Amino acid sequence: MRITAKTKICMIIGDPVEHSLSPQMHNAGYVALNIDNHYVYIACHVEVKDLKDFIKGIRAMNIHGVTCTIPHKIAVISYLDKIDEVAEKIGAVNTIVNENGKLIGYNTDWIGILTPLENITSLEGKTVAILGAGGAARAAAYAVSTKKANLTIFNRTLEKAEKLAEDFDAKAYSIDARDRIQQADIIINTTAIGLHPQKNETPLPKDFIKKKHIVFDVVYGKHQTQFIKDAKTQGAQTISGKDMLLYQGLAQFKLFTGYDVPAEAMARVLI
Ligand SMILES: NC(=O)c1ccc[n+]([C@@H]2O[C@H](COP(=O)([O-])OP(=O)(O)OC[C@H]3O[C@@H](n4cnc5c(N)ncnc54)[C@H](OP(=O)(O)O)[C@@H]3O)[C@@H](O)[C@H]2O)c1
Repeated sequence: MRITAKTKICMIIGDPVEHSLSPQMHNAGYVALNIDNHYVYIACHVEVKDLKDFIKGIRAMNIHGVTCTIPHKIAVISYLDKIDEVAEKIGAVNTIVNENGKLIGYNTDWIGILTPLENITSLEGKTVAILGAGGAARAAAYAVSTKKANLTIFNRTLEKAEKLAEDFDAKAYSIDARDRIQQADIIINTTAIGLHPQKNETPLPKDFIKKKHIVFDVVYGKHQTQFIKDAKTQGAQTISGKDMLLYQGLAQFKLFTGYDVPAEAMARVLI
């Protein structure tokens, strides 16, 4: 342990948060760069009702960097001093950097979605179905909108899908419109289905997944999600939430530390 009184604290907040692999990933990066005396990364379970007090705590304790996960990415915006242009367009913040007492919000989730997709396909001309309309969905919509793809949004609460579709020039449907989801080339699950307490559930029954699909589940846990298992059984190409975690985390590491990212060391802890 090389923590000293000068060590800067970074952390992830969420509810739930105990499943998160961000602490292992960031701390592995600090060790790889031999800066684990400069930075340490922990996790804090923060409930919605405590978010405002938590932000006061960041300022009071001079916390250096914060990763925001479910359900704080949108609500946290109103407590920050500034958010960057991309986070503003997405309408969600997953990264807070304490820059000399000013809390600045960024979003790196869209990089976590775009990079693994572009590693296996070109988005141009493809139809992308995003399941969900929360913070992760907004990042996915932004990522897809930077390429010439056709975007469709499917959500349980239709009004939220319609709002997101309006912001990103997309079409909106209920999540029950499974025949339409099936028509897409790429299906991205950004709903909380697959995460505790909906761990064994799937956002789309197996029969609607075909070999032609690329299936991306942003939800991740210790084991593969049911959605990814089903997609593999159906012969589809898959991208797991761990890929998103890695690429959003690499971009975030750079924002927190300014250092070039030790990608291999950070990826290793996710395997
Ligand atoms: N891999 C990564 O790096 C990464 C990064 C970001 C997020 N994530 C994961 O992405 C998921 C969503 O995060 P978020 O921040 O976008 O959350 P959020 O803003 O709270 O949005 C949750 C979404 O899930 C939908 N939903 C929840 N339960 C549902 C159900 N039973 N049936 C249908 N839809 C349901 C909600 O629909 P309504 O609008 O109808 O409520 C909403 O669209 C979480 O599991 C999170 O862990 C992963």
